[in-house]
Amino acid sequence: MSLLSFGANVKSPDGNIELKFSVDNNGRPVYEMSYKGKAVVKPSHLGLVLAKDKHASAGYGETDLMGGFRIVGEKTSEFDETWQPVWGETRDIRNHYNELEATLEQCEQIEKYTGDGTNLGVAVKERLRTMVLRFRVYDDGIGFRYEFPQQDDLNYFLIQEEMTEFAMAGDHKAWWLPGDYDTQEQETQETRLSEIRGRFQKAVNWGNSSVATFSETGVQTSLQMKSDDGLYINIHEAACLDYATMHLELVDAQTKALTTKLGGSSNAYTPAPRPSAYPLPEPFTFVSHLTPDATGLKGAMQTPCETPWRTVMVSDDARDMLSSNLILNLNEPCALEDVSWIHPTKYCGVWWEMIVGKSSWNYTDEFPSIRLDKIDWTKVKPNGRHAANNEKVKRYIDFAAKNGLQEVLVEGWNVGWEDWANMWKRDVFDFVTPYPDFDIKMLNDYAHSKGVKILMHHETSSSTQNYERHIKEAFSLMNHYGYDAVKTGYVGDIIPRGDHHYSQSANNHYLYVIKEAAKHHIMVNSHEATRPTGLCRTYPNLVGGESARGTEYEAFGGSRPDHTCILPFTRLQGGPMDYTPGIFETRLSTWSNNTSWARITIAGSLALYLTMYSPLQMAADLPEHYEKYDDAFQFIRDVACDWDDSRYLEAEPGDYITVARKAKGTDNWFVGGKCDEQGHTVNLRLDFLDKGRKYDCTIYADAKDAHYETNPKAYTITRQVVKAGQTLKLTEAPGGGFAISLIAQ
Ligand code: NOJ
Ligand code: CA
Repeated sequence: MSLLSFGANVKSPDGNIELKFSVDNNGRPVYEMSYKGKAVVKPSHLGLVLAKDKHASAGYGETDLMGGFRIVGEKTSEFDETWQPVWGETRDIRNHYNELEATLEQCEQIEKYTGDGTNLGVAVKERLRTMVLRFRVYDDGIGFRYEFPQQDDLNYFLIQEEMTEFAMAGDHKAWWLPGDYDTQEQETQETRLSEIRGRFQKAVNWGNSSVATFSETGVQTSLQMKSDDGLYINIHEAACLDYATMHLELVDAQTKALTTKLGGSSNAYTPAPRPSAYPLPEPFTFVSHLTPDATGLKGAMQTPCETPWRTVMVSDDARDMLSSNLILNLNEPCALEDVSWIHPTKYCGVWWEMIVGKSSWNYTDEFPSIRLDKIDWTKVKPNGRHAANNEKVKRYIDFAAKNGLQEVLVEGWNVGWEDWANMWKRDVFDFVTPYPDFDIKMLNDYAHSKGVKILMHHETSSSTQNYERHIKEAFSLMNHYGYDAVKTGYVGDIIPRGDHHYSQSANNHYLYVIKEAAKHHIMVNSHEATRPTGLCRTYPNLVGGESARGTEYEAFGGSRPDHTCILPFTRLQGGPMDYTPGIFETRLSTWSNNTSWARITIAGSLALYLTMYSPLQMAADLPEHYEKYDDAFQFIRDVACDWDDSRYLEAEPGDYITVARKAKGTDNWFVGGKCDEQGHTVNLRLDFLDKGRKYDCTIYADAKDAHYETNPKAYTITRQVVKAGQTLKLTEAPGGGFAISLIAQ
């Protein structure tokens, strides 16, 4: 290692973003970031606080990786490659960045235990710890991470907290969710940074079964912001592997100390003193806050290892937030050799009628509780409301076959739903035993004879060990009957108790499931799991996930009309969402006892198949509702879910999104526009079409008097022949949108 140096500057390939890195007078690593000369991240410290490990020798794990560093090596390099995702928004993705690798050393005098078992002794020793900070600077943002090479003096270590700072340059507007170790199904809040504390309790006050907040200024990522001078800034993470999910805690004028959970049970926290050598940063600084496990600690590490990438995206054009591939690019290339079995999928499901409460997942109401090993299911009294029965499933299979949907999700097919949620029940499902009215062989044979597959459902009730115990048998059963995709679920608090949905151990569980599934050629769509960080690049069998407030909430009181104009800026940054769009009968009381209603028009629902990118798209409403509006359903039949190209034509977080996409392997385009409760007008210039070519254009639009509350089902369908250069004027109703198919002649 060579001379002490004082940091470096690195620019993005287009020169717009500049990153500066150095260590300060206390040996604390500091970075800052600017865009076109404007500050995006003001000087911000990097570091981790370690916990004392009861197994460690004296002097080990007692201090921190916060200061006392010097830079002993710096390397810069450029990287430029283009890769092809297995599925995605575009056929090609360019991964082009300039990199800085800074090697830091922390050298301290410590007392070290020198006993050999018979003679005890303590000697003063010099402890040398090496940490690498790697920065990648792209045209659309930066990523950086901590790396810990294998070394004598930093081998196993425990993380008390990661203290990465993101000092914002002003009181930005932010679209945020309350920081929570277990859920992200809340409505997004739109406030200035200084207003987060005042809004926090209101944001948390809702009915999810698993809530664990930690600070009144704690927020989740991906966090979208907008500065007064028009910069769009987004903080998230990429490649969260064997590590806890990161939240952000804002330092504001009232912050006295940062919270650090140090043990205790779920929903409780103990503010821990921040190491006194490191004063609180300035207001408007976010500091990372990792999700603890059941011990209260945030990570157990073994070198060589690294943290996930911390990402900051920036642009003065909101569309760039949506077209960015920063998160995918920071993930490792595909780890699977054979990906021929992975396919984009449109599906329907025996699902919505249970969500609205019209029918049930469970088969019987006979017992106050059940023990899976003690029941003879052929003898129990059916409740008559069980949805996953042979007759109904066949009807859904027929509907899928008739309408070109590849799969049918069936929930409630397996025993255990009688007392599945919130009972701390470890042995809740076995994932292999069907209810007596679900003939697994007959139904799969029937589906296959019609070119359809059944989509498996594994609700785990968050009993992760139970799922791991059964997973090989469960996946073998799927292989036996020809299922190739599973929707998993993690409702309720994690068992083993005290752990959280977003901890290092829970994240390792989700990855274990994805890898096991890949061995069995099974695609995974995970609900209530941790929010995605682009792992679908490495494991493209991770085709979807929920990890946000999905369409189910339209049956639980509803979501605001702007919700779907925010999610693409936030939740979708890390990977596609199984949003389950397509509700046509928005007033649930017209066909059930549920008084909730979906805040969207039919044309707006069609738009979601474009604006909410996913290779897995559900047609979530009931077949009979689609049959009533078959002319509008034609768009769901036609729309692709895999793309060669995508162009975001206009966007503003919380207001509107318009996108044009070119269907994979074809010359056909589909365009979708979705807006909030205000309505929106679009002058759609068709300059993305091939010049000189004609296209059959079908426009599904809100009718003049359409409105998400008073007149959601008023739509028009018009047809014309168009070519490049033409402009279409489209009016989106409040809570509405439009969808267009352009089929090349
Ligand atoms: C919550 C999921 O989001 C929903 O889709 C599913 O139907 C239920 N859990 C039951 O597993
Ligand atoms: Ca859910």
